[in-house]
Amino acid sequence: MKRRKFIQLGYSSLMGVPAALSLRSHHRTAKYPIMKKPKLETPLCDLLGIQYPVIQAGMGDVAGPELVAAVSNAGGLGILTGTMLPPDILRERIGKIRELTDKPFGVNLLLHRDLYPPAEHDLDTAVVQQVQGVLNGFRHELGIPASNLEPSGVPPLIQSDFDVIVEESVPVFSVGLGNPSGEMVAACHQKGMKVMVMVSTVEDALAVAANRPDVIVAQGSEAGGHRSTWEKKPTNEFAAIGTLPLTAAIVEAVKIPVVAAGGIVNGKGLMAALMLGAQGALIGTRFVVTHESMAPDFYKQKILAASSDQTTVTDIFTGMFARVIRNRFTRLYAGKNIPVLPPGRQYGVSMDIQEAAGLQRNPDFFALYAGQGLDLIQEIKSAGDIVKEIIAEAVNYGMTK
Ligand SMILES: Cc1cc2nc3c(=O)[nH]c(=O)nc-3n(C[C@H](O)[C@H](O)[C@H](O)COP(=O)(O)O)c2cc1C
Repeated sequence: MKRRKFIQLGYSSLMGVPAALSLRSHHRTAKYPIMKKPKLETPLCDLLGIQYPVIQAGMGDVAGPELVAAVSNAGGLGILTGTMLPPDILRERIGKIRELTDKPFGVNLLLHRDLYPPAEHDLDTAVVQQVQGVLNGFRHELGIPASNLEPSGVPPLIQSDFDVIVEESVPVFSVGLGNPSGEMVAACHQKGMKVMVMVSTVEDALAVAANRPDVIVAQGSEAGGHRSTWEKKPTNEFAAIGTLPLTAAIVEAVKIPVVAAGGIVNGKGLMAALMLGAQGALIGTRFVVTHESMAPDFYKQKILAASSDQTTVTDIFTGMFARVIRNRFTRLYAGKNIPVLPPGRQYGVSMDIQEAAGLQRNPDFFALYAGQGLDLIQEIKSAGDIVKEIIAEAVNYGMTK
């Protein structure tokens, strides 16, 4: 109950007079006859300089400048993916966002221990051949050359990308799969930036909090994409706590504002997050299925068609556990019962397949990252409309239920 009074919601009237009320009061909308602009604020909005507590996740190969600007222009916080981007391209994309919006935005990097800096792994040649043997079957179907090569690791771009983010004084530095050092957080704070870090366990939330970021994202196991841990867990059963208990527990455990993530796609989901004590929602999958996302159309269509029972958490695309929609790649690879290479290396070994699948618009061999909220996603929409609908639904729900 303590935290509920921090949520302000209602409608601004045509005259621009804010009509805010606490969630605990049960005023009906009739009290606010001229409804124009829904209002839903938490202290996170002030902290980040945004209008609504809706954050679009920085998503690899999905979240480009157009998506980010559309969300930020609608009053939420858009986050650009910086993953695997050479620093000059990252700087260009930040510049593009600034052409499209004057609102706050973020840039996301993955700080996993195997990626930052890229880990050295001595690969067992026999294992590599086993993996390549299965992947060559996929290559054959796609009509691309077979390979028996040992894959290289990911390029060492993260430090230079971080330097660009700080040089550019990006309003929010967003971190997945990692715990930024106290020095990294301090470097951001010196430039007046905020730091947001995503975790999947209470233990990790406590470790992250010690380095004093501004926001912690509680990523429940419903989430699409990679589980946000900085080292690989033994199986996909670890760091797999649902959004509901994880958010509530992290809110209790840390004194930093918490944002909930995983399976949230609409206003009711946002309200549920706020009821748990979170100050906002970070949303990924819903924003994949937008006009502005960089995701190919066949992938958006797969999300529209799939049900949440069709997702699985697997490490076969990158070597790190991630929630995806099952397809031929996941079924055939799992069926062979062969090992998976270490984080980064498994991505390197299968990159050509995913690239070819993308070019051929073939969902069978593409990594279809998606969260369990996909049953509620029925249409490709513009990202700004999604933000507005989430807020309108949340405000109406909060005022009438
Ligand atoms: C396609 C896709 C790509 C993602 N890529 C990243 C990423 O690069 N960095 C990151 O921090 N999180 C990434 N995530 C995870 C999101 O940050 C977030 O935890 C998740 O999307 C929330 O769950 P939801 O998809 O059910 O909304 C990705 C998620 C998706 C769906």
